[in-house]
Amino acid sequence: MRNIPTEDRILWILKEKDDFISGEELSHRLGLSRMGIWKAIQRIKLLGYSVVAQPHLGYRLIEVPDRLIPFELTWNLKTKSIGKSVLSFKKIESTNNTAYELATNGAREGTVVFAEEQTKGKGRLGRSWLSPAYKGIYMSVILRPNIAPSSAPELTLIATLAVTKAIRELTGLLSFIKWPNDVVINSKKVCGILTEMNAEIDKVNFLIVGIGINVNSEKKDLPKEASSIKEELKQRISRIELARLILLRLDEYYEIFKEFGFNPPLAEIKRYSSTLNRRVKVHYLNRFIEGHAQDIDKDGALLVRLDNGFAEKVFAGDLVNIR
Ligand code: BTN
Repeated sequence: MRNIPTEDRILWILKEKDDFISGEELSHRLGLSRMGIWKAIQRIKLLGYSVVAQPHLGYRLIEVPDRLIPFELTWNLKTKSIGKSVLSFKKIESTNNTAYELATNGAREGTVVFAEEQTKGKGRLGRSWLSPAYKGIYMSVILRPNIAPSSAPELTLIATLAVTKAIRELTGLLSFIKWPNDVVINSKKVCGILTEMNAEIDKVNFLIVGIGINVNSEKKDLPKEASSIKEELKQRISRIELARLILLRLDEYYEIFKEFGFNPPLAEIKRYSSTLNRRVKVHYLNRFIEGHAQDIDKDGALLVRLDNGFAEKVFAGDLVNIR
């Protein structure tokens, strides 16, 4: 426990106890003076935790703030690689940029960068991603899969699957995957994923999977065509709980992907797809393709059956579901 901050050690004990614990016991267990404990408790309160202190009884944790604090995100989190190292910032330009820098400097696979607010949140195709403070989840995951660059879109789809499942589990809302990188609820976008890559011609060095979710945002915080989980559920949810579930599900599917390849997650991606078996229009390579979304191929590409009967394989693009 030597490198763990005192605040985290105290929080750990308070959470496990879930009752009052005397200052004396805390000071004994942590090898700190009673004054040292008191000071650490003040720092914990500054983070937004509610801790009561009662004479003769000691301290008790009453409420945890809905802040993306590394301790809360990782406490008792049973994952193999995702979230083994978590960094959380109050305000940065873009979690993708920070994660990219960290990965360039050798950060380990599964490192996740969170931010409460982004000042230059990036969307796909040079767009921006609105990232108001404390309302969403803005996170970027560093992955180092042993794959060719052409397989990178598979990891984007795996991330959409992890988010879709986590939203369903936590809220009961019927979220769906909109190919290639969105999660929608009631046909409205609540999550977008931007995967960036550092690669050689035939080998990926690392991927940054950037996930942006509109969680507790209100209409005024959102682009016209988008929504948030709060708007669809009509109540706020815990960002911490959702973020933890995403880490868990992403870890689970990533392990499956590494062991068995893309096929097992693909079967689930198809099950939760809002795109398949519908008429779609895709903006791809400077032209529009219209037809029937027939399948998602084994490499994550969309197979569109055109009106002339030919099937076209679309690797990326902007998609509109027509009916
Ligand atoms: C899109 O739908 O265009 C993709 C949006 C991706 C937004 C996320 S928020 C966290 C990460 N950091 C960024 O700058 N972008 C991604």
